[in-house]
Amino acid sequence: MTTRKPAGSTPRTGASGVAAVGPTTAGGGWTRRHLTGLQGLTGAEIRAALLAARSFATLAERDAEAGPPPADPAPLKGRVIANLFFEDSTRTRLSFTLAARRGGAEVIDLTGPGSSISKGETLLDTALVVEAMSVDAVVVRHASSGAAELLSKHLKCSVLNAGDGRHEHPTQGLLDAYTIAEAHGRLDDFDLSGLRVAIVGDIVSSRVARSDIAGLSALGAKVVCVGPPSLAPRSLTTLGCEVSHDLDAVLPTIDAMQLLRIQFERSAPVGGLRDYIAGYQVNGERAARMTPGAIVMHPGPMNAGVEVTRDVADGPRSRILRQVTHGLSVRLAALRLCIEANAPGA
Ligand code: NCD
Repeated sequence: MTTRKPAGSTPRTGASGVAAVGPTTAGGGWTRRHLTGLQGLTGAEIRAALLAARSFATLAERDAEAGPPPADPAPLKGRVIANLFFEDSTRTRLSFTLAARRGGAEVIDLTGPGSSISKGETLLDTALVVEAMSVDAVVVRHASSGAAELLSKHLKCSVLNAGDGRHEHPTQGLLDAYTIAEAHGRLDDFDLSGLRVAIVGDIVSSRVARSDIAGLSALGAKVVCVGPPSLAPRSLTTLGCEVSHDLDAVLPTIDAMQLLRIQFERSAPVGGLRDYIAGYQVNGERAARMTPGAIVMHPGPMNAGVEVTRDVADGPRSRILRQVTHGLSVRLAALRLCIEANAPGA
């Protein structure tokens, strides 16, 4: 497949130019029935998922330039996917739904307020009821860290984590890695070595940050978490990243930046919003100090005027909508790989 390099991409800066060993066929090397997190996955497994995603780009993203359509035009034909979302979502939920449909699956949807959860039924009992309707995969979002892991221990169908508390959001981690690989010409092997990525903002509350740190590090990138001590404490180094409280010092050293919303429902910056904006908002002047080719990302929902200004979010460095687009092929791949690994005899 020809790798498309969008305008503004920089040549690879990888140390050796030798690709890390990874699967050569889409999905080769993937054996997991569930996707509950990226922590604990090997670089080869993450590459397998990203290569599968790339092979689905023409189908899931309707990207005619991505290459030939997959050999199987309906990789989820006959499958039933259940969305169980107990927290709000725009992108993740729509993206799982559309990805599943573009793959040929049927999708059923359940939300907390409209379901028997509001009558006291536990998450596990609800999931068992849904599974009893012969679903192939449950996609779950829940405020409790570990919710997806719990379901994966009790359900026979595949379980995909769409965000659990402050723990993980693995498909977001995958689509972020995909977006960085595209911007820096690494779609051939998803080897991100030599690249430095900053995650800026409310790291303590962020499941996106945890999946990004695990996924990007496994692919060879160096990750630095940036924010005030209350939102980016030194203890984050145990996850294998650097920590900095000085965004202006980090700006000229990075190839990509992931901005995070302050999750006021889970935490708030000590010193208030004004201090946060002064030290960490990415505005036009700060963006201008990034190196040529460095990109700006945001998983959404975005608070324009807080962590980022409108001109940067809509500006030439921004890959924010590209992230949304890649969510489709990443989620189609994740569903397909997990369901396939769960098939009898797999
Ligand atoms: C995030 C989430 O819900 O974890 N958004 C997303 O899924 N794209 C981040 C957030 O809520 O700020």
